[in-house]
Amino acid sequence: MHDLHELKRRAGEAIAQAKTLDALEAVRVAYLGRKGVLTELLRGLKELSLEARKTAGAELNALRSHFEEIIAQRRGQLSVAAAKHVFMFDPTKPGTKAHTGSLHPLSQIDEMIRSIFISMNFSVVEGSEAEREFYNFDALNIPPNHPARDMWDTFWLKVPEHNRKLGRWLLRTHTSPMQIRYMEQHKPPFQIIVPGRVFRYEALDASHEFNFSQVEGLMVGSDVTLSHFKFIIETFLKRLFGDQVMFRFRPSYFPFVEPGVEVDVKLKGSWLELMGAGMVHHRVFDAVHYDPNMQGFAFGMGLERLAMILYNIPDIRLFYMGDVRFTRQFS
Ligand code: FA5
Repeated sequence: MHDLHELKRRAGEAIAQAKTLDALEAVRVAYLGRKGVLTELLRGLKELSLEARKTAGAELNALRSHFEEIIAQRRGQLSVAAAKHVFMFDPTKPGTKAHTGSLHPLSQIDEMIRSIFISMNFSVVEGSEAEREFYNFDALNIPPNHPARDMWDTFWLKVPEHNRKLGRWLLRTHTSPMQIRYMEQHKPPFQIIVPGRVFRYEALDASHEFNFSQVEGLMVGSDVTLSHFKFIIETFLKRLFGDQVMFRFRPSYFPFVEPGVEVDVKLKGSWLELMGAGMVHHRVFDAVHYDPNMQGFAFGMGLERLAMILYNIPDIRLFYMGDVRFTRQFS
């Protein structure tokens, strides 16, 4: 009897002094576990006579219930304390920075470009990525077998029989087909930009993607000249790169403009090609039945190349890898 009193006292003390849930569990195992003190005593009952077994058994079982009860109580206290610790809010501590989502760098550039052109009274229109050969090539003065088609290696699409009367279909290789689609539906004067994805059957390297983005520009009116283009593009580049930006026009060839130019930007001492441009070719105006005296300029720039220059990104493939270590740098 004395031993049981002593056991009850010691166990009660150990339970009360357990400071953590783990410590409490250790005490429970020490007394009630498979090899615990109380378990051993219960196991020893079978050695006793029937009479002694009855009284001792009742006492030991009462003790076990008592232990279970005070362990459960203590567990309740410790759980509340542990939860309080986890949720304890100290308003004087500096906050931890939460990782929120952010726009992809290309989306950011896209938004900047749109807002700059909108501020110059341009409208934004979009076209479809699957396009007819007629709009992507023929109407832009690139008839079948024209050597310039080699400039745009093409993903051709398989189309169902009932659509074949519209000619062949492809993934647009540039945003220029929207020039034709827009002019078919609208009369000048107007000025638009066309942001969108384009596709080329090209080998990948640090500056070539097979899926990239362009922004087309088109301004048409009876008196639009190349100097209007120069003003618009100068304003655009200054807003994007700052007033110190240096750019140049370099003669170039695209079948749908005459004269044709390429625009380079000078950054850190070297010239980088940014866009193709020029005065809209009269054959393009013919294709949309415009007055032959109409004048206009068009340009097409690569968004990834622009982002690479602006943010000093060395490899175009980083944009489409989906690696958050890259995208987080732009949040
Ligand atoms: C064109 O696509 C013409 N449609 C641009 C144009 C529009 C000229 C209107 C005249 C008038 P080009 O193939 O050069 O041109 O592409 C234009 C821009 O897209 C390039 O300057 C470059 O910035 C980008 N670009 C071209 N190919 C790739 C590629 N594989 N990966 C990433 N960017 C590219």
